[in-house]
Amino acid sequence: MDLSTRYMGLTLRNPLVASPSPLSHTLDGVCRLADAGVGALVLYSLFEEELTEEAARNARLAEAGTESFAESLSYFPPAAGDESGPRRYLSLVERAAAAVEIPVIGSLNGVTPGGWTTFAQAIQDAGAAAIELNVYYLPGDASVSGREVEMRHVEILQRVKDAVRVPVAVKLSPHFSSTGDMARQLDSAGADALVLFNRILQPDIDAESLAIVPGAGLSGPADARVPRTWIALLHGRVRASLAASTGVEDPEDVVKYLLAGADVVMTTSSLLRHGPAHAATLLDGLSGWMERKGFSTVGELRGRLAVPPGADPTAYERTGYVSALRAANAATYGPW
Ligand SMILES: Cc1cc2nc3c(=O)[nH]c(=O)nc-3n(C[C@H](O)[C@H](O)[C@H](O)COP(=O)(O)O)c2cc1C
Repeated sequence: MDLSTRYMGLTLRNPLVASPSPLSHTLDGVCRLADAGVGALVLYSLFEEELTEEAARNARLAEAGTESFAESLSYFPPAAGDESGPRRYLSLVERAAAAVEIPVIGSLNGVTPGGWTTFAQAIQDAGAAAIELNVYYLPGDASVSGREVEMRHVEILQRVKDAVRVPVAVKLSPHFSSTGDMARQLDSAGADALVLFNRILQPDIDAESLAIVPGAGLSGPADARVPRTWIALLHGRVRASLAASTGVEDPEDVVKYLLAGADVVMTTSSLLRHGPAHAATLLDGLSGWMERKGFSTVGELRGRLAVPPGADPTAYERTGYVSALRAANAATYGPW
């Protein structure tokens, strides 16, 4: 059984990728994920806020000392013993890349096209095989137009692309007025992969305590339906690799994403719920299913259930939507 896969120009031993989570906060966690068999892993994110704080702190230090080029020093290693987030991150990238055989992908999370984006180069130089860019931007300001939101994504991507030689993936929110167009804009701007999707925080309200309860909780297989639909729609319509992210729990969820057209399938929730060793269960299940169905390579099954190349995706979706509603209505009230 050949599970090997290409993802944004990287060769992976299989299409299962551990997405960013607390499991990759330490070298031990990284090694456990690699030992469990994943094809690649994306480290937890370093945030724009951590980088701008570090840059401001270094600029203050430089001002107090003799250095006059504080700006360019801002991403240099600070004094020994410093435990800043960026320092720790680079150290982890370096140690992880040396310790495991699989590609280690660094993750940056930010929302402004600022100087922090150049830190991608430091992550690359520390040994990351690629960069994943998480633009976690929810425009709470209702005066911000959709076009501005889109341009922000493209500009941040371009800045990071300018800073590095390694491939760059963009992890997207599921909320755009035209997700497909956003995907194509990023594709044209040079995104090497699109990760569909980020899981947006969904705070709840506790009616008893009259308090807002933060958090997103872990996902389940039903949450995979929206990303899977977009993977099926975009497969073969963008040059960038497609990474499916959200809602993987069982091997069948991995299979379904591949059938829809994903190049790789990512999981966080299932690994947090069952531990890193669950990766081996997912992979064994994938191999077992392939054997049962007579597939010997992942390439043979990838995209089998994507929206066909010549089809009009909107009409395709609309037809599916109408028939789904008809079926649901028929089940409840009888045929229309
Ligand atoms: C506890 C926790 C921490 C996470 N940390 C990050 C992070 O640092 N960067 C990031 O891009 N995504 C982060 N995510 C999002 C996951 O990488 C993933 O996109 C999301 O959980 C959806 O995938 P899943 O359904 O497989 O969990 C985190 C998710 C959880 C649950």
